Amino acid sequence: MGKYVPYFRTHYVKFDNMHTMNPFKVPQGNFSLARYPQTKKETLRAWDAADEYLLQHLDKPDNTPDHTPRILIINDSFGALATALHTFKPTVQLDSYLAEQGLANNFHTNKVDMNAVTLLNSMEPLEGHYDLVLIKVPKSHAYLEDILYKIQPHINPQSKIIAAAMAKNIHSSTLKLFEKIIGETTTSLAKKKARLVFSSFTTNKITESPYPKQYELEIEDNTLTITNHANVFSREKLDIGSRFFLENMPQPRPYKTIVDLGCGNGLLGLVAAQQNPDAHIIFTDESYMAVASAKTNFQNAFGSSRAATFLVTDGMAGVEKQSVDLILCNPPFHQNHVVGDHLAWQMFNEAWAALEPDGEFWIVGNHHLAYHAKLKKIFGGYTVAASNKKFAVMFSRKPATKN
Ligand SMILES: C[S@@+](CC[C@H](N)C(=O)[O-])C[C@H]1O[C@@H](n2cnc3c(N)ncnc32)[C@H](O)[C@@H]1O
Repeated sequence: MGKYVPYFRTHYVKFDNMHTMNPFKVPQGNFSLARYPQTKKETLRAWDAADEYLLQHLDKPDNTPDHTPRILIINDSFGALATALHTFKPTVQLDSYLAEQGLANNFHTNKVDMNAVTLLNSMEPLEGHYDLVLIKVPKSHAYLEDILYKIQPHINPQSKIIAAAMAKNIHSSTLKLFEKIIGETTTSLAKKKARLVFSSFTTNKITESPYPKQYELEIEDNTLTITNHANVFSREKLDIGSRFFLENMPQPRPYKTIVDLGCGNGLLGLVAAQQNPDAHIIFTDESYMAVASAKTNFQNAFGSSRAATFLVTDGMAGVEKQSVDLILCNPPFHQNHVVGDHLAWQMFNEAWAALEPDGEFWIVGNHHLAYHAKLKKIFGGYTVAASNKKFAVMFSRKPATKN
């Protein structure tokens, strides 16, 4: 029945205007940066005090190796570190498509050539030796653990490993990870509520990353083995919101195209595929690890008997307008450390645009997130398919013409 369509890196999407650029003044130069995606009333900057602290630290004469160092930057937010350090031609590894788009746009704005960096996604292997590894501490402890294991073969005891984060995001468990996997670890004083972590590879021992990890899931008389790469939502077990969604999925209809929007490990799309054997499923997520997990899980469930589309993208970008008759979504409520409903708004609007007339948008949400108000505003109404103490599964249907 056809082959898997590999997930792809869609084209860089240029900003249409620059209303949320902010001046980024660091010892390496004066730049202008913006987050991605851009919103009209953006109040947040593309970098934080931890980026500034790290760049100030690197500017001190003793702190950057004197020969031309090979630099690896991991989990940079919107290319802030890469923009400032582009003259070193660093390798930059990201799991987030949004961060990657932010980097590309910020390079463009600051007239930095994309060839100034080697850009790798989190599923691509590192190559060679690095003298300096800069890590922006991710929200997920598991992702940090995976990063530390994966850099081991590419460092030696002379390499400097420096991680940066807001102090509230550096816990004793964070430092223990560095000590266990890398070796001797110290921290800086806090500055503007940010802190640096310095580690050197004194363990000098290479251990394979324990990720991806798997768990077994009983669904509709089937046992599925679910594979999760390190930075995937609800990696250890099924999220309770997703479970409630799976128990209250739309009744099978002759759906042609179903999208699992923000698919994580792809369980919603996988179960929809089982329930709707003739539908084509599109999985989208902005995390490379999420889409890779969804692809593995789909492949394990269906072998080569069924084709599906896997997109690492922003929301529904890459899915044609008015081309889909069912969208399933357990919306994200944070972008890395930043909590907010901007991603949900964007996804709901894009879902509207991608649906055919009469198509349905199904979501699950914690009651306090009040997603029903957004559905009402965008679709003109909604139906609660199921509700318990914490969650509601709701859907909206796109009428033939918008009111
Ligand atoms: C709450 S999780 C749900 C994951 C999965 N559907 C489930 O129910 O287990 C939200 C997902 O949305 C993804 N996400 C966040 N922002 C996104 C964006 N702009 N475009 C696509 N996916 C995004 C996250 O990476 C995450 O996997």
